[in-house]
Amino acid sequence: MADVLYFNGRFTTTDERLIGVEDRGFQFGDAVYEVFKFLQKRPIFMLDHYRRLDRGLREIDIPTPWSENAFAEIVRELLSRTSFEDGTVYIQVTRGEAIRAHFYPDNMTPTSLMYSRRFTFPDEAKKERGIKLITTADQRWLHCDVKSVNLLANALAKKKAQRAKADEALLIAEGTVREGASSSFFAVRSGGKVITHPLDEHILPGVVRDRVISLALAAKIRVDERPLRETELFDLEEAFVTSTSLGVMPVTEIDGRIIGNSRRGEITARLQHLLDEAELRDAAVEVRGSARR
Ligand code: PDD
Repeated sequence: MADVLYFNGRFTTTDERLIGVEDRGFQFGDAVYEVFKFLQKRPIFMLDHYRRLDRGLREIDIPTPWSENAFAEIVRELLSRTSFEDGTVYIQVTRGEAIRAHFYPDNMTPTSLMYSRRFTFPDEAKKERGIKLITTADQRWLHCDVKSVNLLANALAKKKAQRAKADEALLIAEGTVREGASSSFFAVRSGGKVITHPLDEHILPGVVRDRVISLALAAKIRVDERPLRETELFDLEEAFVTSTSLGVMPVTEIDGRIIGNSRRGEITARLQHLLDEAELRDAAVEVRGSARR
């Protein structure tokens, strides 16, 4: 069955072909996207995603098509029209359609869309088993804090990982570990200190990254936001990645080298548990919110 699609102000399905060939999202990758998850049709951390979208659009001079309230209202309607309970919502806002030229006209009308997609989130077995990474050069641009649809370097890195029978590519630049091709990266070094790249133009400010840091600090787990040298990867107690689709996911191998003792680490397991609880709390807030209406 086709997924429910919201496109430029109306609801349709993903069966309908709608994007013009001269849409700048299509021709120039001139667009920003977001992905959030929903459980039992309840959006998780939705406003964090809205705020990142809004900030990214401002950064590249595209007007945000929705206020926070209008956005929440469209999501509510989209999910009420969706036939499944758990999945992700993909959102994209492009600069819009215009005769192809690098210079874009002023005052363009953005193309805006969102659709729901069924997604099976990792089960307990997968959350315990974890994933394998390879390292590869970070070939992305210098504005990775904007969630732009220009994902060519990410897609190529990810394919390289798949060919090496790994699950994710860890992107390295100037001897520094940046992040995964579609996830944030965390290392746990001796003494249980959690290390992750600081927020700057080299990484995406992951919504889950941010939550996990707050949850860790509240649980008195020490967090150091600093660049990790590639050489430090040889000496880790634990490692994990975070993302909307994976949550907190243990890393058991990097470039064929075993991390920890190839099993999910203690801190990783604690943070997984804390994130699961935080997601459920967020879903419950949304339930109470809708009950009031
Ligand atoms: N990707 N870093 C990169 C490069 C990403 O693409 C993603 C997520 C993350 C994690 O961000 P968050 O915690 O907000 O999901 C970090 C999404 C899920 C994707 O491209 O589908």
